Amino acid sequence: MKGIILAGGSGTRLRPVTIGVSKQLLPVYDKPMIYYPLSVLMMSGIREILIITSPADKDVFGKILGDGSSLGLSITYAEQTVPRGLADAFLVGAEHVGTDSVALVLGDNIFHGPDLGPLLRHHVRDLDGCTLFGHPVRDPERYGVGETDSRGRLVSLTEKPEQPSSNKAVTGLYLYDNDVVEVARQLRPSPRGELEITDVNRTYMEEGRAKLVELGNEFSWFDTGTCDSLLEASKYVQEIESRQGTRIACIEEIAYSMGFVSAEELHELGARLSSSPYGNYVKGLVEPRPLLEVAG
Ligand code: TTP
Repeated sequence: MKGIILAGGSGTRLRPVTIGVSKQLLPVYDKPMIYYPLSVLMMSGIREILIITSPADKDVFGKILGDGSSLGLSITYAEQTVPRGLADAFLVGAEHVGTDSVALVLGDNIFHGPDLGPLLRHHVRDLDGCTLFGHPVRDPERYGVGETDSRGRLVSLTEKPEQPSSNKAVTGLYLYDNDVVEVARQLRPSPRGELEITDVNRTYMEEGRAKLVELGNEFSWFDTGTCDSLLEASKYVQEIESRQGTRIACIEEIAYSMGFVSAEELHELGARLSSSPYGNYVKGLVEPRPLLEVAG
């Protein structure tokens, strides 16, 4: 399966912050936002990843992630000249997808929870048509909302419903078989001139080939598109990391645990990050722990 991170867009809800900086480069506590969706693809076992950005921002993403080889990945970049909608990812990324299946993740989405990696890898292996991930939210009327039958098949999908039929918001992680490229080619732009991902999902749903997997309350999901949600996500990451002594979306650690890089390569990656707490954490993952000295 190939991966695509959609990291263009306008970021109008974060202005004036996003006038000079791409939203997906903003920090979420201790790392750039793009690390979070990248970590989701890596945990899914995906190593060939296309990052779609606006033309102005491509070089900065390249400066941060390069060609991905230091993480055992192949990262390439493509430009979306104007924000034509989420489903445009499959037209911009058609060559990258080739004859493969594809996972699309939005560049401003954060997922965290127990055994997320094994769960994602299971659904990558199990893919039959399209798989979406739903998360319970307090305010479903702000999102796309899905309903499933007893087997988890998607049976209804409504964008920003006034009377939501469930509290399951469709999150920004989507798995598709190769048909998605052709489905996207057939789409007509919505009244706001965008190729809507909901129209892609509805096509699969009408063919009975769409699944909605519920990520329960043990998972956290953030769409960091507003000042409040960005701060909320940063506070969440800071709290979990300081309480548990772990790191969320540490791409170097994930590359190591997935077997994409060796222990020596991991240490080198940490050393390159100098003496920041993040770099020290990465280095420390493969350094022998000092023995506790018992005071006499
Ligand atoms: P949105 O948050 O829906 O849009 P946006 O980032 O332009 O922000 P705003 O609504 O505040 O103007 O986009 C979700 C993600 O998809 C985000 O990472 C940006 C990306 N995106 C694109 O890359 N291209 C697009 O055409 C659109 C609509 C979004």
